[in-house]
Amino acid sequence: MSIALAAPLVGAALVSPVSRSAIKCPIAMGGRVPTKFTLQMFDTTASPFSPNRRTGLIVGNGSDLTNTRVKTFHWSFQQDSNMKMNLTHEYTNVWHERKDYNGGQFSVNTGIILGEDKPTDSNVSKTGLDENLWKILSNKNDVIWTTSIAWDAWQNFAVTVDYISDSGCTTLQVWYSAGGDALQAVTRPLAKDNSGGGQFQLGMAKKATEAVTVVYGGYHESNIHEGQIYGGIFIEDSIGGCISK
Ligand SMILES: *[C@@H]1O[C@H](CO)[C@@H](O)[C@H](O)[C@H]1NC(C)=O
Ligand SMILES: *[C@@H]1O[C@H](CO)[C@@H](O)[C@H](O)[C@H]1NC(C)=O
Repeated sequence: MSIALAAPLVGAALVSPVSRSAIKCPIAMGGRVPTKFTLQMFDTTASPFSPNRRTGLIVGNGSDLTNTRVKTFHWSFQQDSNMKMNLTHEYTNVWHERKDYNGGQFSVNTGIILGEDKPTDSNVSKTGLDENLWKILSNKNDVIWTTSIAWDAWQNFAVTVDYISDSGCTTLQVWYSAGGDALQAVTRPLAKDNSGGGQFQLGMAKKATEAVTVVYGGYHESNIHEGQIYGGIFIEDSIGGCISK
């Protein structure tokens, strides 16, 4: 999977999400937007996100402390009922892309997954690829966890990336909750290759149907009116197992 520059990004709004428990671990990088922030400020260094950017929200510069030790990447989604995704298409809504832009440590996709993004894990059942599910993919596009899209409620996610694991293999672990509930572990720490540095990116990358690559070929609709609300974006230091739930 490579998410390339030309993948179109459709409307993403940012709001303060549900109030769950307070953040309790050291923040490695914050993506929470101050309430008085203006749209123009996203193009300046006052923004918590990269101002030179792609059109998505990018946290970090590819080689910084968000790619070291053990970090948990947090975000929440809410769907805009007037701007629903068309799940005939594949979307990538959140991803951690490697510094070489040729893949990533994890991504969250939905819709019909294109052939080039198909999981390499032969154990993935067809059900796990249902177009209506959020699918969390690891570095080899294996589906490591799925849940239905909630069309009318906040959904809160976190992914703990262990870059150094003492046991000798690096791991990924997924956390999830709905509404104002505390996050629960929904996978164990899974042995995955988390090398390659990179950046945490949030935005709707809508792919063309039947595309051969993310950027070329396929069919895109015109007059797209789709959006999604993001909130609660931050990266915390989870050394010693610290997780804000
Ligand atoms: C990325 O950020 C880190 C931490 O702020 C800094 O040390 C490093 O020089 C930056 N690298 C680039 C390529 O900007
Ligand atoms: C969803 O996308 C497909 C493929 O682009 C298109 O044919 C269809 O009309 C779309 N459906 C809606 C409801 O927009």
